[in-house]
Amino acid sequence: MKRYYITTPIYYVNSAPHIGTALTTIVADACARFQKQRGREVYFLTGTDENAPKVHRVAQERGVPTQQFVDEMAEVFERAWRALHIEYDIFIRTTEERHKRVVSEVFRRLREQGDIYKGSYQGWYCISCETFFASSKIDESKTCPDCGKPLEWRDELCYYFRLSDYESRLREHILANPQFIQPEVRRNETLGFINEGLQDIAVSRTGSDWGVPVPDDPNSGVVYVWFDALLNYLTATGWLERGEAYLDTWPPDLQLMGKDILPRFHATIWPAMLMALGLPLPERLYGHGWWIVNKQKMSKSLGNVYAPLEVAQSLADAAGCELPYAVDAFRYYMLREMPTDADAEFSLEGFEARYNGDLANDLGNLLHRTLSMMHRYFEGRVPDGARLDAELADLFAQQAARVTEAFEAVDFPRGLREAWQIIGAVNRYYDEQAPWTLMKQGNTERAGQVLYAGLIAARLLGGLSEPVMPQVAREIARQLNLSSVPCWSDAVVMNAIPTGHILQEPKPIFPRLQPQRSTGGTPVQAQPTLERDTQATATITMPDTITIDEFKRLQIRIATVKAAEPVPKSTKLLKLTLDVGGEERTIVAGIAEDYTPEQVVGKQIPVLVNLQPALIRGIVSEGMMLAADVDGKAVLLHPDREVPSGSGVR
Ligand code: MSP
Repeated sequence: MKRYYITTPIYYVNSAPHIGTALTTIVADACARFQKQRGREVYFLTGTDENAPKVHRVAQERGVPTQQFVDEMAEVFERAWRALHIEYDIFIRTTEERHKRVVSEVFRRLREQGDIYKGSYQGWYCISCETFFASSKIDESKTCPDCGKPLEWRDELCYYFRLSDYESRLREHILANPQFIQPEVRRNETLGFINEGLQDIAVSRTGSDWGVPVPDDPNSGVVYVWFDALLNYLTATGWLERGEAYLDTWPPDLQLMGKDILPRFHATIWPAMLMALGLPLPERLYGHGWWIVNKQKMSKSLGNVYAPLEVAQSLADAAGCELPYAVDAFRYYMLREMPTDADAEFSLEGFEARYNGDLANDLGNLLHRTLSMMHRYFEGRVPDGARLDAELADLFAQQAARVTEAFEAVDFPRGLREAWQIIGAVNRYYDEQAPWTLMKQGNTERAGQVLYAGLIAARLLGGLSEPVMPQVAREIARQLNLSSVPCWSDAVVMNAIPTGHILQEPKPIFPRLQPQRSTGGTPVQAQPTLERDTQATATITMPDTITIDEFKRLQIRIATVKAAEPVPKSTKLLKLTLDVGGEERTIVAGIAEDYTPEQVVGKQIPVLVNLQPALIRGIVSEGMMLAADVDGKAVLLHPDREVPSGSGVR
């Protein structure tokens, strides 16, 4: 039987995982777990795109040999994915020899059959997007139409892939296979892109020798990184090594990615390459929308890039929730608010609202109150003859079918909405039937029936939410004293918990986040308030030491305070606008109880400028001021004479 083959893009390793790359990976993991739950054998691929010139450039800027840099970064990705409960089957790296062999072989074959030919190229190139742009697509500013960065003029001999030859076949395939590109909006974008007319694309690059050398032509540089990267999906199946056996996996059933890399790369160049190789095309390409933060694209320069694990950790700290469940809560938020057609806003406030609402109040409370009452009234045993009312059984089955349909369509927001209807139905049922009153009236049998609905709902929800929150599903199964999380077909079996079954004591999975402890009030990636400084100082007395190299990673500069104002609704925080050597920055500092805004304007203060930005009370704080801590009071530090703003501190 063919395995269900799911892929994420392979990620550039020039920066660490963020909520954008985490989104694609979590969606893929949820799809993989969903298919497994339904009994399919799944092969889930993710990995790293290491041959890109921009990766090489970042390694050089850091003064690290590129191979060492990519080795370290691949490890960073693998660790982050494991911590986010991503259960991939294979992690591919494009610097692996077997992948390079595939790239060389494909290049050779296509050149031999005339699909790749040599020509000369003149044009505008964006290093960041690794893409050439036709002169008609760019304006006076000579900046990239996709990312806005400056373009470079290139004039070189290079190899071309005859993409134009595949234009009509591609169009026909897309029109004949409505499921090929999803959602609909991406399909239309792709058809629009193809209808503008396809041009042959340059598939070799000179200028740097980092990458896969053009085979049998050492002077022609390396293979274009997208041509190289797309082939990872083939390498991972063992094509070239396993004879016909690779067909147990090929073609991909579901290829997931963000909208930016779908129309041109995955829905045009990629299928054209496969057509040239005579290979079956993927069944389905799905391109989700993007996370935006405060209505803007995430970018390092805006300081609004969030690291997924830190977001989860800060929730765990603030709510007192165990980390694996906080990670699952993060996965829930990603999938419940997932941008499908359009872009969607990522916010810590939104995350907290989903946590308190959907997880603590709804799911957690359903399990907790049901188990508590079962223990209070029935000594934790399922009473005799407990059965689900027929009406509820129908509703549960209908909702489960809706969840299945939505998850199959990669529409997790809809699927989770449908699943949560089950919780709403049980809560209404409890209110109407009032098992607590039934008990007082001595109608124990009916009270048992009513609470049994809560048990079956919790069991069903554990099964349905496993793809999204695998650890939480396991904990629900444990508290219900089931031997494992029920698989999809088993979860919908009603009345599956037998009479006399013993339940575990309830234990809250999602402690409610109190408003004063919210993650929004304290930053996610660091805490530049004095409370945290005090803790940091305390660590100096611990036996831990840091190396001089670790210390050198801290960039401390002298900034001049240009403006200061209180942060609304906070007695402790001031918002400071700083001049750091000509660059304006905003930071939030916990000094309002010790200084008025007027007292700090014009002062020169040391600031840690390479701290990851953090959202504090809706303000992006881009650094941390350093102050002396005297019995919990902040005392500003100044250079002993005025120095140029931006001066380094060593
Ligand atoms: N290396 C290529 C892919 C090659 S696949 C053969 C690449 N890598 S990437 O590291 O830039 O990341 C790609 C994935 O992250 C894409 O799916 C992209 O859409 C996604 N995201 C990056 N930022 C994002 C958001 N802000 N929001 C959602 N997804 C975003 O492209």
